[in-house]
Amino acid sequence: MPFINRKKYIEEGDLVLIYVSRTIIKPLYVKKGENFNTRFGSFPHDSMIGLEYGSQITTPKERGFVYLLQPTPELWTMSLPHRTQIVYTPDSSYILQRLNVIVGSRVIEAGTGSGSFTHAFARTINDEGKLFTFEFHETRFEKAKLEFENHNLNNTIITHRDVCKHGFEIDDIELAADTVFLDLPSPWEAIPRLDKVLAKNRKVGICCFSPCFEQVVKTVQSLQDNGWIHIELTEVQGRLWESHKAMKRDVSDAIKRLKYVREKQREGLALIKAGKHPRPEQNKVKEKDYGFNPFGKGKRIIEGEDGYEWVDVTRLEHEVKTHTSYLVFASKMPEPVRHL
Ligand SMILES: C[S@@+](CC[C@H](N)C(=O)[O-])C[C@H]1O[C@@H](n2cnc3c(N)ncnc32)[C@H](O)[C@@H]1O
Repeated sequence: MPFINRKKYIEEGDLVLIYVSRTIIKPLYVKKGENFNTRFGSFPHDSMIGLEYGSQITTPKERGFVYLLQPTPELWTMSLPHRTQIVYTPDSSYILQRLNVIVGSRVIEAGTGSGSFTHAFARTINDEGKLFTFEFHETRFEKAKLEFENHNLNNTIITHRDVCKHGFEIDDIELAADTVFLDLPSPWEAIPRLDKVLAKNRKVGICCFSPCFEQVVKTVQSLQDNGWIHIELTEVQGRLWESHKAMKRDVSDAIKRLKYVREKQREGLALIKAGKHPRPEQNKVKEKDYGFNPFGKGKRIIEGEDGYEWVDVTRLEHEVKTHTSYLVFASKMPEPVRHL
């Protein structure tokens, strides 16, 4: 399973995640004779075969480069073909930890959607665990099934099913799930159908992932009605911090700048008094005239350039979504104490 068992060298047929830039990662199955095209140029698949995962390759004319990354659930989430809204790593990592999903866990997931979270579950439970994932949309089901086969997610069984209408039972398999994850528009309709497929001898954890509070209210009611306890609501607020260098400035820089502005004003006034209107370009700061301007005008300075003092600073990236969904967690005790 490439998502679980790491391998060193790229072979024909392998899945490689091509890192073009921080926001562009493209999945690619390596095939002899084919090319991967980007705006930086064309990368022949043949040049990837035999290289180590993680290598950097350049285009034949060395106009650009990309990295050949080994697939992981986190990178897959960033590069997968979207067929639905997906669960992102800040939520999935928290949910896995919070539900105590470990090697050998038996998990129910509905719906499968684009299979983003499926990969994270499959890696965590490993070959000893089992993941039962359900999707009622036929095309999404077919695409996810093929993808899981291509990715060798051997511990995952996907079923084409409306779980709200027909529940979770699978012929000849005792699901005995200790973990349930519901990312459905109406989890409260699926919750009453869970009892028959839960593990009896272990504590069971559930997480329902819903974007609206109205859904949360109905879900909580259904959990209470169906014997779930320790019901809690959580929201993960993801924030991305961007680091860069800021130039150190002091009072002498400010004084230098003020003197410069005054001087320019005086020159302008003198021209006006002499009946000559200063042309706009006369007021422009010319690079060669003035050089470094600590207030950002004049000579262009490259971040971190020698000859200046720099300090490392961070700022929040603004375009990060801070709310994806509300997470409703609950648990069920082992069968002997479940109904006490
Ligand atoms: C938001 S997507 C799930 C995304 C998924 N968690 C991921 O990370 O890629 C919700 C999926 O649930 C499916 N779905 C909705 N109601 C369902 C039901 N009653 N039974 C099974 N699947 C259902 C939808 O077709 C959709 O693909």
